[in-house]
Amino acid sequence: MNAADSARTLLILNGPNLNLLGTREPAVYGTDTLADLEATAEDAARELGWNVQCLQSNHEGELIEAIHAARGTAAGIVINPAAYTHTSVAIRDALAGVGLPVVEVHLSNIHRREEFRHHSYVSPVAEAVIAGAGRHGYRMAVQFLASKLQEAAAG
Ligand code: DQA
Repeated sequence: MNAADSARTLLILNGPNLNLLGTREPAVYGTDTLADLEATAEDAARELGWNVQCLQSNHEGELIEAIHAARGTAAGIVINPAAYTHTSVAIRDALAGVGLPVVEVHLSNIHRREEFRHHSYVSPVAEAVIAGAGRHGYRMAVQFLASKLQEAAAG
């Protein structure tokens, strides 16, 4: 990917078990599938003249590798780290290490749920956190990141 493409590309990362969306605990996560979420992010990006690269993984190391690779291929990262939100210092360190702007997204409002979901290792390295807006959270995250990056580029 050349520099001009990566400057207008956002990496959309989804963590473990999000491949099960649609049938996974629909009372908590709704009935949108992973493909629906990715399409929402892609549509929001395209409307603003941006591209997305989407990856879902159930493996912490694979998510970390994707974060490292984003340095050359994306201008910002939208991440739903799923359960790794609450456990992974390694994902937080990877995000901090690459220094790209990050928006953390959760489908559910993690603060209205079990105590163990209230703490996020990722939030301190995120520009913004969106929780509880379902699929719309992905759209808002893309719109916010694209606007912020465009403002930064305009000086
Ligand atoms: C989640 C919330 C996490 O607590 C949970 O482990 C998930 C999904 C959400 O999108 O609401 O897998 O990140």
